[in-house]
Amino acid sequence: MAKKDIAWESLGFDYVRTDKRYVSCFKDGKWDDGSITDDDKIVLNECACVFQYAQTVFEGLKAYTTEDGRTVTFRPDLNADRMIDSEKRLKMPVFSKERFLDAVDRVVKANEEWVPPYGSGATLYIRPYMFGSNPVIGVKPAAEYQFRILTTPVGPYFKGGAKPITVRISDYDRAAPRGTGNIKAGLNYAMSLYAIVDAHENGFAENIYLDPGTRTRIEETGGANIIFIDKDGNLVTPLSNSILPSITRRSIMYVAEKYLDMKVTQREITLKEVEEGNFIECGLCGTAAVISPVGCINDHGKEIRFASGMDEMGPTLKKLYDTLTGIQMGRIEAPEGWIHEIR
Ligand code: PLP
Ligand code: COI
Repeated sequence: MAKKDIAWESLGFDYVRTDKRYVSCFKDGKWDDGSITDDDKIVLNECACVFQYAQTVFEGLKAYTTEDGRTVTFRPDLNADRMIDSEKRLKMPVFSKERFLDAVDRVVKANEEWVPPYGSGATLYIRPYMFGSNPVIGVKPAAEYQFRILTTPVGPYFKGGAKPITVRISDYDRAAPRGTGNIKAGLNYAMSLYAIVDAHENGFAENIYLDPGTRTRIEETGGANIIFIDKDGNLVTPLSNSILPSITRRSIMYVAEKYLDMKVTQREITLKEVEEGNFIECGLCGTAAVISPVGCINDHGKEIRFASGMDEMGPTLKKLYDTLTGIQMGRIEAPEGWIHEIR
């Protein structure tokens, strides 16, 4: 399969229109058969539930070209499961796991020329999403929906790729206690827009959100979970019911334990203990972020600097990064069921 003639190496994390997308509509209590279309426009009534009450959820995963030239996705079954959790929480009709997986395969296959070549540093980002589409003015769930998947080739989420970033402790919350922080709802990201623009204007790459109940514990950033390496070289990651259960983070925990023989702990992590220097490396992890090293956390002017410094990824995160991406790109044998080939 010939690839598109584009400068894959210089792609950032921006939308590029690809040729095909998937769409299925829900009406009169059922989903239609779904199809692949060229049309990238959506026409909706002005009072569609998504516009008035933000009834929309989404997912994010990637397609890779492996070293031996196969096109694969990474643990898409977990994205299907999480999307179903998100749909249920916003009272949307479930798009079944089987149909989700089939739709991802179909849309990637239809855009195979857009799946970046092996070694280019780019990947095809896959964005499944669902929204309430019929007019609603009283506050209630829509009766009609669209499930869609768009794809776009992407490079690194943070400028500079593997260069350590500086993030800050946010004064805002992205989730409420017992709110929607643990699902992938568009509203969580709307909540973060003011804070991310302000962070960028002040020279920070991302915001770290604290637990919304007490504001003493580390939760996650606007678009990624957080991992720490302690002084003994072990992996520690926050436990909280208001953060998104990152598929990347869950995979890293497994890789750390089973491939790298590290001790892995998921527990509440206070900002105070991070300030006290309990951790020597810090990273953000997610589909878009992969593993992005954090060199410094700024807490209202007070700098928490990690021993790994601002020049390169620390040695333990680098091992995790190499193992995870090695699995994704087919260089390292994957655990059973992690790599899904698209034929
Ligand atoms: N946390 C948030 C808020 C996110 O938006 C994402 C991205 O999907 C993640 C964490 C990472 O999740 P995953 O590894 O499943 O992509
Ligand atoms: C992802 O990593 O897939 C996300 O959805 C994060 C988003 C901030 C791009």
